[in-house]
Amino acid sequence: MENKHWWNNSVVYQIYPKSFQDSNGDGVGDLRGIINRLDYLQKLGVDIVWLNPIYKSPQVDNGYDISDYQAINPTLGNMDDFQKLIDGIHERGMKLVMDLVVNHTSDQHKWFQESKKSKDNPYRDYYIWRDGKNGQAPNNWGSYFSGSAWQYDKETDQYFLHLFAPQQVDLNWENPNVRHSVYDMMNWWAAKGVDGFRMDVINLISKPEGLPDGKKAPDEKYANVEPIVANGHRIHEFLQEMNKNVMSKHKMITVGETPGATPEDAQKYANLENTELNMVFQFEHMGLDANPNPALGKWYDQKTKLSDLRDNFTKWQEKLAGKAWNSLYWNNHDQPRVVSRFGDDTTEDNRVKSAKMLATMLHFQQGTPYIYEGEEIGMTNAYFSRLADYVDLESINAYHQLVDDQHLLDGKTMMKYIAMHSRDNARTPMQWDDTANAGFTTGKPWEKVNPNYKDINVKQALADRNSIFYYYQKLIKLRHEMPVITNGSYKLVDGNEKDPDVFAYLRQNDQTTLLVILNYTNKTLERHYDVPEDASLLISNYEDDAGATIRPYEAKVYQF
Ligand code: NOJ
Repeated sequence: MENKHWWNNSVVYQIYPKSFQDSNGDGVGDLRGIINRLDYLQKLGVDIVWLNPIYKSPQVDNGYDISDYQAINPTLGNMDDFQKLIDGIHERGMKLVMDLVVNHTSDQHKWFQESKKSKDNPYRDYYIWRDGKNGQAPNNWGSYFSGSAWQYDKETDQYFLHLFAPQQVDLNWENPNVRHSVYDMMNWWAAKGVDGFRMDVINLISKPEGLPDGKKAPDEKYANVEPIVANGHRIHEFLQEMNKNVMSKHKMITVGETPGATPEDAQKYANLENTELNMVFQFEHMGLDANPNPALGKWYDQKTKLSDLRDNFTKWQEKLAGKAWNSLYWNNHDQPRVVSRFGDDTTEDNRVKSAKMLATMLHFQQGTPYIYEGEEIGMTNAYFSRLADYVDLESINAYHQLVDDQHLLDGKTMMKYIAMHSRDNARTPMQWDDTANAGFTTGKPWEKVNPNYKDINVKQALADRNSIFYYYQKLIKLRHEMPVITNGSYKLVDGNEKDPDVFAYLRQNDQTTLLVILNYTNKTLERHYDVPEDASLLISNYEDDAGATIRPYEAKVYQF
């Protein structure tokens, strides 16, 4: 069966530009650094490169606070470098996806600079301004980065909305001028050759009418905004309008970041007619290890149970089949490292085995897999123990709110949770080799390098035929070559839904069946599956096949 879209059997590689490769010794990764590493990406075999925001930005949230959508941040390079980068990507047969951050702009953006000047400024209505209520914020919404979602502005005696940091001001999508300015900007990038967009928190852009208060859990100081603003009443209308004005005019790939989206939402966003987006990043599997106390959110230290993970993956595979397209991811710049979170980084052997096992679990599902920089060499969490080593505002603000302000946790417990869940775990520099600063920079890195870089790095991985890198290379190649991975049906092996330790599923089309068997634990187990005599072992993370004996973190896929 032919693929419906050019990207159906593609694999995406995500680059966090600040942390990937520095070329000029200022300690910050840059576009020239990425250009120097394009051969590496080609060797891995990926099809699409997604860059986190590279636009001009004061960097309050590492580029998710954009002050000019049509300029490159000077620490990363300039338009010339950008042109060389996109040419280099295209010359190698790959495509480029840019981050699109249009729920909010930086407070330094010229629109906001105008907007805050006066109530009758033509740009006033580009943002969401409201009067206070009894000397307080207009409602009880909390920001994703702690504190209220409203900031008071003395000059005009009103509050403006910011779902993230106060320097990330929410745009007013009710205003058609805002929407059409965004579409024009997207078309401008498409004309430069950009092949698609990853859309930051795109399902938060349609705010509910009247901006009503939200419900608060007992310990919560502010209401969690997500259930109130996610998937708002005009969201599908806005995305269809964007699609008409932008996507339908180009051969683009789009992925929307959609916190709080259910499979039913995704069926609409990522419908196969592509009237909105091509796929979405959903968060359900990222929330399975959250703290049971909603006031503590993601801050916790329990490992996700296999049964929860399997139920969730199965639900998404089944509900989107034939209706919408899945994105498949384990981690990104906002999440801990996959091998530390879902696998086992306590010994070298377990790190390598569990990284390959988890890669197998994801890459044999239907959808488009995303690999986050360093995942392909099994980079781990940095587990910094001092708050002073953390750079990310989310962790720092959460510490102050939960420990100093609300006294919900003691400092030691919070530091343990931060070490496991901070976004900084994903943002430590890429580990290229065992020289100073892991070969990332000759200067002082903006974020500390993970001390394990002497053992875990690209140079080592490329020199070892059994490395995680070559395993990923093989998974990507299989996806390109075997239609069943793209178009086959998904089904759990009979009885597997009750197995607490092993995940076993089938992929099947008219020609081929694949049986995927995954041991999520560090124990040796016995399992008897129906494997036909003529089945061959397609891929495995062990040297041999021990039949019904399934060794620690073993992953194997049979083909018949
Ligand atoms: C989601 C992005 O992935 C994250 O890094 C950022 O902080 C927020 N959106 C706000 O833009």
